[in-house]
Amino acid sequence: MSFQILGTGAYVPEKILTNEELSQMVDTSDEWITQRVGVKTRHISVNESAAEMGAKAAQRALEAAGISAAQLGLIVGATVSADQCCPSTAAKVQQAIGASCPAFDVNSACSGFLFALDTAAAFIVRGGIEYALVFGAERLSRILDWTDRSTCVIFGDGAGAFVIAKGENYLGSHLFTQGGESVLAIPLGKGNSPFYEKEVAPLAVHMSGQETFKFAVKQIVGGIRLIAEQAGITTDQINWIVPHQANIRIIDLAARRLGIPMEKFVVNIERYGNTSSASVPISFDELARSGKLKKGDLIAMCAFGGGLSSAACLIKW
Ligand code: COA
Repeated sequence: MSFQILGTGAYVPEKILTNEELSQMVDTSDEWITQRVGVKTRHISVNESAAEMGAKAAQRALEAAGISAAQLGLIVGATVSADQCCPSTAAKVQQAIGASCPAFDVNSACSGFLFALDTAAAFIVRGGIEYALVFGAERLSRILDWTDRSTCVIFGDGAGAFVIAKGENYLGSHLFTQGGESVLAIPLGKGNSPFYEKEVAPLAVHMSGQETFKFAVKQIVGGIRLIAEQAGITTDQINWIVPHQANIRIIDLAARRLGIPMEKFVVNIERYGNTSSASVPISFDELARSGKLKKGDLIAMCAFGGGLSSAACLIKW
């Protein structure tokens, strides 16, 4: 349809936070987190912003693609945890890697990377752009409530990026939004405005876990079926599925409902937790560098999150 992936890259910060360490901070246990979520460790940024991590993932993707930052015609970034809302994270990545093309962010929470990828694909179809960089970068540790055990045990920091170019390997895509903030929201606080009348919730991830869980399973299953239909294939012809890493039980349940064996799903939640928009490109990068991919493999990516939003796409390697 419109593009091919030339190179991928990922970056996670050095500091690792274990479940045992978290158990010293909130009333939780390694056993609960492992069984209910599937996370054992997550990486935490001490000093690096989402943009700084995004730039490192971008450099690695450029190296893998064999092109220079100066050759990029577009940068589209995804994040919900930037240190600043202006400049955009994409603009900061552009400066850090030495590119000079237009750069902007999209916000679709954990589905953000796939929304960004589809946006870049549309620019490539429009013409005039040879290479685009798409990344997801998150410093979620800065927006978590570290006293809330129902959220702080789930997430982690990191970044992932793709360099894409014109090609025929994008076989299907489905983006979905169902507006409403009662299930999942990250309010920003109100600064010191004297004009607000309503109470504003503090900056933190607010989530109804079980509602999100149900939405996630439904959207993964529906999204994968839809993109397979668009591409004129059956779901069992898909060689690999790269899902958003939010909860191992979500992936397991979706796999069973689809009748696709777990071995086809890329799973790394135990090492990184949920890195929101970075989760799919980090996982894809691990698959791409694993040596397991064969030319012509069909790879589905799928994600879900705040918005509520979800996305799925199918590519040919
Ligand atoms: N450690 C120990 N106990 C915990 C805990 C923790 N970190 N977090 C919650 N609990 C407790 C609850 O207080 C509750 O106790 P109670 O039975 O005494 O009231 C019990 O565990 C069960 O809580 P519940 O919320 O029903 O657990 P759950 O099985 O639904 O798991 C989530 C909670 C958040 C892990 C799960 O719902 C989930 O992963 N949802 C999807 C979230 C998601 O994908 N978010 C990202 C979207 S991009």
